[in-house]
Amino acid sequence: MERAAGKVVLVTGAGSGIGRATARLLAAEGATVIVTDVNRAGGLETVQQIGDLRGGGGARFEEQDTSREADWKRVIDDILAREGRLHGLVNNAGIAGPFPSTFENETVEQWQRILSVNVQGVFLGCKYGVPALRGSGGGSIVNLSSLAAFLGTPDLSAYGASKGAVRQFTKTVAMDCARKGYKVRCNSVHPGVILTPMGEGILPSDKAKERMRKHIPVGEFGTPEDIAYGILYLISDESRFVTGTELVIDGGMNAI
Ligand SMILES: NC(=O)c1ccc[n+]([C@@H]2O[C@H](COP(=O)([O-])OP(=O)(O)OC[C@H]3O[C@@H](n4cnc5c(N)ncnc54)[C@H](O)[C@@H]3O)[C@@H](O)[C@H]2O)c1
Repeated sequence: MERAAGKVVLVTGAGSGIGRATARLLAAEGATVIVTDVNRAGGLETVQQIGDLRGGGGARFEEQDTSREADWKRVIDDILAREGRLHGLVNNAGIAGPFPSTFENETVEQWQRILSVNVQGVFLGCKYGVPALRGSGGGSIVNLSSLAAFLGTPDLSAYGASKGAVRQFTKTVAMDCARKGYKVRCNSVHPGVILTPMGEGILPSDKAKERMRKHIPVGEFGTPEDIAYGILYLISDESRFVTGTELVIDGGMNAI
C-alpha cells in the first residue's frame, strides 16, 4: 500500500531520529522526500537509506538551517523549480539545548537559540510553505511539538516554552488557512520520550532511563517509527478532515 503515493514532502531535520524515520516511511509509502538538515552527513545518510529501499519514492538532500529565512526561501524555490510542487511539510527540526536548564540558570543566549530553531523555524516553515502548498492544489503541514507542551518542564525551560508555542501556533495557522479557504491543513504531533540522539542527551545513563521508564504507563520508550506513523497519517489524505488538532504519541504519559 502506498499511502503517500505521488506526494512531494519536505522533512526538516531529517538527518537523524524522528525526521529520518519519517522521511524513510514517507518514501516507502511512495512520496518523493526532500530531506533537509544542518547536518550534511546525516542528511546524506538518510537519502542513502531511502535509496536502498525497494520500491517507494525517491529522496534528495538540501542543506538548511530552519531558523534562517534565506534558507527557507532557497529550499522552497528549489523544490518548485525541481519537483514543481509541494504537498507536505514536516517541521521536525528541533534542539533541546544543554540539560538540565532551569529558568534560573538558563541564559538569554540559550533561550534565544532554542526559540530561534524550535519556534522561529516553524513560523518560517509555515510562512514559506503555505504558498507553495496552496499553489500545488493544497497540502498538509505537521509541526513537531512535544509532550512538553502540556506539562511543566523544570529542567528544560526554554524547550518547554518553545513546544507550547508550536502547539498554539499550529492552531493559528490551521484556522487562518481554513477561514481563507486555502486547502492547507496544519496539525501538531506530540511525542513522549523517544531514544533518539536528542532523547539520549536528556537521559544519558541507564539509571536515568530506568527512572524515566517507570513513568511511562505502557512501560517502554517509543521509537522514531512510532512517531513517523502518526506523521504519515497526517500527511496522507486519510486525514483530510483533520486540522488544528494535537496528536499525542507518548505511551500514555499525558493521560496520568
Ligand atoms: N526525542 C524525543 O524524545 C522527542 C520528544 C518530543 C519531541 N521531540 C521533537 O521531535 C523533533 C525531532 O527530534 P529527535 O528526537 O529526532 O532529535 P534529533 O536530535 O535526533 O534530530 C534532530 C535533527 O534536527 C537537526 N537540526 C537541529 N537544528 C536544526 C536547524 N536549525 N535546521 C535544520 N536542522 C536542524 C539536527 O541536526 C538533527 O538531525 C524535535 O522537534 C524534537 O523537539 C523529540
